[in-house]
This record gives sequence, C-alpha cells and structure tokens, in this order.
Amino acid sequence: MADNYLGKKMEDLASRKKVVKRVSATKSLDTLLLKNRSCRTWDPSYVVTEEQLKKIVEVNTKIPCAKNQQVLRFKLLTGKQAAEFCPFIKLGALLPDMKFPPEGCEPSAFIIVCSTIPENKWVDMDLGISAQSMLLKATEMGLSGICIGAFNKEKAKSLVPDGLDPVLAIALGKGAEKYQILHIAEDESHNYFRENGIHYIPKVRTEDLIIK
Ligand SMILES: Cc1cc2nc3c(=O)[nH]c(=O)nc-3n(C[C@H](O)[C@H](O)[C@H](O)COP(=O)(O)O)c2cc1C
Repeated sequence: MADNYLGKKMEDLASRKKVVKRVSATKSLDTLLLKNRSCRTWDPSYVVTEEQLKKIVEVNTKIPCAKNQQVLRFKLLTGKQAAEFCPFIKLGALLPDMKFPPEGCEPSAFIIVCSTIPENKWVDMDLGISAQSMLLKATEMGLSGICIGAFNKEKAKSLVPDGLDPVLAIALGKGAEKYQILHIAEDESHNYFRENGIHYIPKVRTEDLIIK
C-alpha cells in the first residue's frame, strides 16, 4: 500500500514536471520572438567576436532545408572588415529623414549569407529559415541583428570565393534601441515608424491572418 502510494506520488510529480517544462519552453520562445526585433542602432562599446558568430552559424546544423542540400555558406565579418562593409548597406528605407545606423552606432559584425547555387525559390526558403534561426540565437546570446536585403552585392562578392552568390547580409551587435509591437487590423498601415525614441512595428493581428 505504502509502495503504491509512493509510486503514484512519483508519477504525479513527474507529470507535473513535464507540464512545467512545456510551459516554460513556450514562454521562452515567445520572449525570444518578441525581443528579436530588427535593430538599426548599436552600442559602439560592444565588440562581437568571431567565436560568437560561429555559435550563431552553428544553428544551421540543426534546421530544415529543401532536400537537405545545405547550399548556404556564411562569411563572417568582424572588426575592421565589418567596419569596411558598413557603408555598403542601406537601413530604414521607410524612415528616409533619419540616418541608419546613426554615426558612431554601427554594428560590429556581419554574417554574409551566400548560396553555392544560383538563387531560386528553394534557396530563398532555406535562407528565411536560416536567417530567422540565426537572429533568434543572437537574441538568446544578448545580441541584436537585422536582415539586410539592401546591400551592395558586388562588394559582398569581393569578400567571398568565386562561385558563391551573396543573398543576404545580417548585421549584429549590442542593440541600443527601444521597440514596441502594435497589433493592427489588416487594412491599417504596415509601415514601421518612430515616436519619442521608440521604434513601433505594426503587426497584423492573428484573427486577420487566419483565412475564413
Ligand atoms: C528578407 C528581409 C530583408 C530585409 N532587408 C532590410 C533592409 O535592407 N534594410 C532594413 O532596414 N531592414 C530590412 N529588413 C528588416 C525589416 O524592415 C523588418 O523585419 C520589418 O520592418 C519588421 O520589423 P521586425 O523585424 O522588428 O519585426 C529586412 C527583413 C527581411 C526579413
């Protein structure tokens, strides 16, 4: 009888532990997703290292990709190389009156994502999964980044071996911005904007995303 009681108690505890674990995992993903905002202003006193970039790229050994072909390659830029690449990116097209990054608040590192084959829709899908996974990892590590489609391809090409096609740049550093997500209806403006030093990002609410 006593044995049976103990057994039941253990089972009860084990099942409760599982529930607690599942809840905290959900919470931490939501926290990371919310924190993972596109950053355009960085703390100049923080220097991202190559080791940190390697950890971020490592997520690519754990993610899905089309036919498992793993066509993406990653050029890491830190220090002087990152500083030299900075003038070849464009940030904040929806805020043309502001300069991004502000002078002296540049990212201290970049990952240039390249493809070993000409860009096609499968490469682009792999790219999206890879980029978001890397940004989430960076966020977990206390860094902030942004995907950059508007970068100078010729400059990026000059930094990688022949045959690689640069498809996206990711800037990284210690973020120095405040953000706020705004839940909107699908017919409201999707444009991000700044007010009193806060960067507002409108996101269409769930009810409007689901097809009726
Ligand atoms: C594929 C892709 C390319 C992007 N290219 C640029 C870019 O060239 N310049 C820029 O300032 N932001 C760029 N962004 C960032 C978007 O503007 C940003 O994701 C959007 O404003 C929503 O903000 P959020 O990332 O904080 O949710 C890009 C984002 C993605 C996913």
